[in-house]
Amino acid sequence: MSSSALFEQEIRQGLRGRDFIVLADYTPEELRYLIDLAIELKQIQKSGRRFQPLAGKSLGMIFEKSSTRTRVSFEVGMYQLGGQALFLSRNDLQIGRGETIWDTAQTMSRYLDGIMIRTFAHKTVIELARGATVPVINGLTDLAHPCQAMADYQVILEKKGHLQGLKIAYIGDGNNMVHSLMMGAAKFGMHMSVATPEGYEPDRDVAEMCYEQAAQTGSSLKVMHDPREAVTDADVIYTDVWASMGQEEEHAQRVQAFKNYQVNDELVKHAKSDFLFMHCLPAHRGEEVSESVIDGKHSIIFDQAENRLHAQKAILAALMG
Ligand code: CP
Ligand code: NVA
Repeated sequence: MSSSALFEQEIRQGLRGRDFIVLADYTPEELRYLIDLAIELKQIQKSGRRFQPLAGKSLGMIFEKSSTRTRVSFEVGMYQLGGQALFLSRNDLQIGRGETIWDTAQTMSRYLDGIMIRTFAHKTVIELARGATVPVINGLTDLAHPCQAMADYQVILEKKGHLQGLKIAYIGDGNNMVHSLMMGAAKFGMHMSVATPEGYEPDRDVAEMCYEQAAQTGSSLKVMHDPREAVTDADVIYTDVWASMGQEEEHAQRVQAFKNYQVNDELVKHAKSDFLFMHCLPAHRGEEVSESVIDGKHSIIFDQAENRLHAQKAILAALMG
C-alpha cells in the first residue's frame, strides 16, 4: 500500500465512532478528507449509483429549535446511505418533562447508531456526547454550526478549485455561524476578516483558538468594525441573520445596531470581481443582505444548501460506518 493510501486509511479509522461537535476537534487533514468524501458521495448520488454503508442503522435527530435544511438533509442523507432517521422534537421527548441529558443519552444509545442534536446551550451537546456511547453530531448550538461550515467549505472548494490563501469576509453578528467559519478558515489556511458592530464581536475564547490555529496554517484572522475594510479584495462574502434563533426579542434593537452592516451593491464593489456571496439561510432580505446581492449572479446560497446533504452524508458515513 502506498504511503498516501496508508495515511488515508489511518484517517478513516481515526474518524469511526467520533463525535462531531466543533471543527476544532478535527485536524485539517481529517476535515479535508471529509470534504473530499462529500464531493465523491455527491458524484455517486448524481450519477444515480447507490452507496449504502449505513444499511440497518438509525440516527436519532433531537430538535429543540426549528429547522428546514438540517432536518431534511439529515433525514434524506440517512435514507440515501441505506439507514433511517427519527425526528425527535423536545416537546415529544421526556427531556421536555425534565429527564436528564445523561439518562436520555444512555437510553438512546441502546437503540441508535448515532444522535444529531440542534439545541441552545453548547454544553447540552457536550453532556449528551459524554452520556452517549454512539457518535453525537452538532446540528447547531448557540456557539457553533459545524455541519453548515463543512458544506460551505465544500462549495468554496468546488467553485474556486482550492481553499488555501483565499480571503473570506464575514459581515454581521459574531454568532454560531461565524465561529465555525473562523475555525474552518484557520484549519484550511484561508484568510478571514470579520466585521461586526461594537459589542457583537465573536466569542473571545473561540477567537483565541482560531488565532492559534491560523498561526499553524499560516493564515490570518482579523476581527474589526469596518465592513468595507473586511470585504476589500475578498473572494467570498458571507453574512447571516442579525438575530439568531432565541434572540427574537432583540430583533428591533439589533436592526438598529447592524444597520450599517448590510451586504449590498455598494459594499460588494470592494470585493474581487469574481467574489462569491454566501449565506447559511434562512435569510432576511432587506436586513443583512439586499435582494440584489442575495438573488444576484454572485450568490451561491442554494449550492450551499444542497451541500448540507453531501457534507453530512460524508460525516455520517465516516463516523457511523
Ligand atoms: N442553515 C440551516 O441550518 O438551516 P435550517 O435552520 O433550516 O436547518
Ligand atoms: N445564526 C443562525 C443560523 C441559522 C441556521 C441561528 O442560529 O439562528
